Amino acid sequence: MPLILTIESTCDETAAAVINDRLEVLSAVVASQEKFHEQFGGVVPEIASRAHVERILPVIDSALRKAGVRLSDLDAVAVANRPGLAGSLLVGLMAAKTLALAGNLPLIAIDHLQAHIYACRLAAGKDVFPCIGLIVSGGHSNIYRCETPLDFTPLGGTIDDAAGEAFDKVASMLGLGFPGGPALQRAAEQGDPKKFRLPRPLLDDDSRLEFSFSGLKTAVRYQLFGAGKPEMNAATLDPQLVADMAASVQAAIIDCLAGKAMLALQQTGFQRLCIGGGVAANRPFRERMERLAAERGIELHIPPLSLCTDNAVMGAIALEKYNAGQFATLDLEISAGLERPHLARST
Ligand code: KG4
Ligand code: ZN
Repeated sequence: MPLILTIESTCDETAAAVINDRLEVLSAVVASQEKFHEQFGGVVPEIASRAHVERILPVIDSALRKAGVRLSDLDAVAVANRPGLAGSLLVGLMAAKTLALAGNLPLIAIDHLQAHIYACRLAAGKDVFPCIGLIVSGGHSNIYRCETPLDFTPLGGTIDDAAGEAFDKVASMLGLGFPGGPALQRAAEQGDPKKFRLPRPLLDDDSRLEFSFSGLKTAVRYQLFGAGKPEMNAATLDPQLVADMAASVQAAIIDCLAGKAMLALQQTGFQRLCIGGGVAANRPFRERMERLAAERGIELHIPPLSLCTDNAVMGAIALEKYNAGQFATLDLEISAGLERPHLARST
């Protein structure tokens, strides 16, 4: 029975899991770094890579022990080598290469974004391909046509900030702390989403499967502190105003994501939508998508919260590559940076 060790270190979670050929999760370990980055209000790449270095071996060791397997029991080692923070990716990749070499195991490269969509396959317990894949994470808001787990074609995405980034930056402006997404969602529960009129860029443009979230920060800033470069001090903001702004921003982001996901389904004629990434943990977003799917007869898959944010279990997509004989060589490199479909098209 093939056993695969999967390693994830693309951003600020160090994670490992052991999966078998029936996609059963034998173990899953995640070491979060939230407390290191909290004080800076965002992920600091250098701190993230150092924390990965300290944690990667204990995390892998713990995943193997929990699964009750030794290195010699494994049939392959898989690692997310793209996209992400360069230093963070390197730590996972070097660990995976070393284990592959030491254990004489095949190495499998995982695309972190595709893995986020594959989390839907795991949660569904059945095939979810072909589908439209919407990835909404801290760095990405991309839409893919996913014919099979091995065949993803980008259809569009954000032309500037990602949805998660918008949540994080506005949360920071509102003094809500880090990570911003969950904090903003909590604050929004007491707020009125119609209180502030915020832009929904590109939403009315049916010719483009694109998002633009960077203007939201400016719009929020202007509405809270006025135009120009006024002193910003979240501590001076009334809690109700913060809640109203949080609710208004959340509603604007959800409108854009929902609108373009529906447009992608309409343009392609697909009836199945899979959503992955940290922002897919947002409760009002999940509820909106569930309502829309029910109204329009769309088969919707969103993973449980633990499989939305970064984890190694979704690296089970490596099993698809294993079965297809798609192995990497030991000179596998990382591919850092953000995947922006509109830039790929224009080059
Ligand atoms: O997928 P992920 O864990 O890491 C990346 O690959 O980037 O996504 C992290 C992002 C962060 O921007 C975080 O604020 C956002 O997901 N997020 C949320 C929620 N939980 C996490 N955004 C909105 N609402 C949430 N409940
Ligand atoms: Zn992610």
